[in-house]
Amino acid sequence: MTASPFVRDSFQSTSSLRLDRNSFPMRLFRKSKRLGIWDPDAIDFQTDREHWLAFTQEEQKSLLHMTSLFLGGEEAVTLDLLPLIHAIASEGRIEEEMFLATFLWEEAKHIDFFARFLEEVVVDPIDLGALQGEQFKFLFFSELPRSLRRLLEDPSPIAQADASVTYNMIIEGVLAETGYHAYTTAFESAGLMPGLLQGLVQIKRDESRHIAYGVYLLCRLVAEDPQLWEGIEERMNALLIPALGLIAESFDLYEKMPFGIELEDLTEMASKNFLRRHRRISDSRGKTFQEIQELALAVVSED
Ligand SMILES: [Fe+2]
Ligand SMILES: [Fe+2]
Repeated sequence: MTASPFVRDSFQSTSSLRLDRNSFPMRLFRKSKRLGIWDPDAIDFQTDREHWLAFTQEEQKSLLHMTSLFLGGEEAVTLDLLPLIHAIASEGRIEEEMFLATFLWEEAKHIDFFARFLEEVVVDPIDLGALQGEQFKFLFFSELPRSLRRLLEDPSPIAQADASVTYNMIIEGVLAETGYHAYTTAFESAGLMPGLLQGLVQIKRDESRHIAYGVYLLCRLVAEDPQLWEGIEERMNALLIPALGLIAESFDLYEKMPFGIELEDLTEMASKNFLRRHRRISDSRGKTFQEIQELALAVVSED
């Protein structure tokens, strides 16, 4: 499977190997073809605009704040994914690369969606950068681009693991998932922001495939070399601190966060998701490639 990045002597799809359609990445690719084709332009924001105009200043500020973190995050993951795709493609892992092609396209649509939300619901072109705190900047200005761009020089398994922990386990797995939970808590039961929630349902589904791929990649890397686990665990624990710090610093600007969003609720959810994935990756030590595939296929649903 491993080939020099500059020469090749065959293609998997034209060899007797063919595409491995039963592999976990191909399952994700099939799901993306079916579910990842929603169009941000098709979402109607008219009612959201009316709700926005009726919000208090503090409520508007907290919604802009959440959106500033989310949209900034979506731009970051779109800008920073390519080195991982390149590393995987250079190893000739065609099924994984096919899925990653949908992954990047979906991240681009997530930017499109939140940018449209700002243009049509908030309308005034406000600079939201001031709402991005120190922990946010540490993770999105520094750790994410650094760990992904390192792959351009060093695509080794430990560098891939470092990138995937940062991108899939922390940015997507801890922060994005907590972000949806905050939006949903704020608006779902109150019947507010229907367009925003409609897009978030789609984005959350896209993200669950991205995180599933990240867990699969890390499990595969650990199964191939169990000694990687120590570094992965260290990195996961080290980055959990600023990730939880980012959630906490979002509350610093408010005496009481509007829309009934509670810090403990978000922190509890973030920690629970983190621990579940931590366990799965840790359990990959001593497993075969086939066992990793089967476990991943058993966990992911068909829809
Ligand atoms: Fe995204
Ligand atoms: Fe994502």
